[in-house]
Amino acid sequence: MSFTRREFLNDTAMALAATSLSTLAPGGLFAGTTNKRKFSAGEKIVVGLIGAKNMGYYNLENALKQPNVACGGICDIDDSILNKRIDDVSKLQGKAPTAYKDYRKLIDNKDIDAVIIGTPDHWHCLPFIYACQAGKEIYAEKPLANSIAECDLMVKAARKYNRVVQVGQQQRSGDHFKGAIDFIKAGNIGQLRKVNIWGNFNYGIGQLKVPDEPVPAGVDFDTWLGPAPKRSFNKTRFHGSWRMFWDYGGGLLTDWGVHLLDMGLWAKDVKDLPLSVTATGGNFSFPDHAHETFDTMDVSYQLPDFTINWQHAAGLQSGPYGRSYGLAFVGNNASLVIDRDTWELFPEWDNELKKTKVPAMPKQTSKGSHETHMQNFLDCIKTRKDPNCPIENGRLVAMYAHMGNIALRTKSRLVWDAQRNNFGSNAAANALITPTYRQPWELPKI
Ligand SMILES: NC(=O)c1ccc[n+]([C@@H]2O[C@H](COP(=O)([O-])OP(=O)(O)OC[C@H]3O[C@@H](n4cnc5c(N)ncnc54)[C@H](O)[C@@H]3O)[C@@H](O)[C@H]2O)c1
Repeated sequence: MSFTRREFLNDTAMALAATSLSTLAPGGLFAGTTNKRKFSAGEKIVVGLIGAKNMGYYNLENALKQPNVACGGICDIDDSILNKRIDDVSKLQGKAPTAYKDYRKLIDNKDIDAVIIGTPDHWHCLPFIYACQAGKEIYAEKPLANSIAECDLMVKAARKYNRVVQVGQQQRSGDHFKGAIDFIKAGNIGQLRKVNIWGNFNYGIGQLKVPDEPVPAGVDFDTWLGPAPKRSFNKTRFHGSWRMFWDYGGGLLTDWGVHLLDMGLWAKDVKDLPLSVTATGGNFSFPDHAHETFDTMDVSYQLPDFTINWQHAAGLQSGPYGRSYGLAFVGNNASLVIDRDTWELFPEWDNELKKTKVPAMPKQTSKGSHETHMQNFLDCIKTRKDPNCPIENGRLVAMYAHMGNIALRTKSRLVWDAQRNNFGSNAAANALITPTYRQPWELPKI
């Protein structure tokens, strides 16, 4: 198998291709390119993976199931994961991808066309922007970033450098959620007034507390922390469990919330931030488990003609309609209830006509959407169309999720000031918009 070098289409890109790595700006940033590569039918797309343990690798596997896709490089800061994934991919494609411990080196590899970003949330923004500037196409895991300011920068970078970006909100691909949303948009449940969303998951309380330990051999923990504050090593804040700590993630609301809130917004093609956000809850339970993010939470988003309500109770596994997570789209004539496996209708009763307001229908089942979402990304690299979950969608729903967390962290009703791009005079909330990066990492300027 050979990884062919693409033709760059414009002068900037040609100059870039000829630039030696030593001439790159401090921090490694390219001056930037807006090149759009042309792929002939049947030509291979070479992908690189940054963050290889769990979701990133699953995405890569889905990419490698498609025709004419190869993996040219894998980057991880944990040797045991990196070695395992190099081995896994070598078996899948019969050729070892290059192993990297620094994502910038992987992105600097000019034979790599596209990158999958599967790092924890606090590590989405920097590789994303570097990849934009290097002219790579990007499959970026959700939530788009761990802060509002990072999300804004990433949108700017993607559009400035003309990149094809798919955000990993895979429910936007496949027939299951689309079928339900089309059903709602066609008026089948009557006027949609409210979307109730819930996500009760065991993992949301984190792991049982354990003492700090030495950093495991082969782990570059300082790079894992990256732009986040310096901290001792504790496995309850590391692989997977980082989600429950503010410096790295936003708990269930950003983890599952972005997937589910996204469906609520899609039902009315909402493009704007809510008029206001209020939240209640706190850390009420499981004190023996390590988490900072809220174990119990209710958030209400006011929109012009409907409301969206989010609820979670971490540590539980059951919820409304017998589902641990899901959405109920509440219309005047019926409620449509959905999770990733099925959706069903609960028609309202008409007292005068003595029958339901809409006919009953059988439960609808799903075939999943992860692979379709990746397929759509790879297709869009060739057509250069926006994929099913463009970056603006990723930003919007990440903003909704962050706003819910910020409302509860500051115990305030939030109203976004679009002119000032902040929460107006709410200084406590404004202080949570932009993270303070730990040197030498810097939030890029676009
Ligand atoms: N779309 C979905 O359904 C879905 C599902 C699960 C996770 N996710 C998202 O995927 C992302 C990763 O989640 P996960 O569960 O795989 O996390 P994880 O902790 O299991 O894996 C993250 C990997 O990134 C590596 N890493 C961390 N910093 C790095 C750096 N600077 N450079 C290179 N590698 C680095 C870690 O060593 C680890 O191998 C998150 O943003 C998460 O929200 C999405």
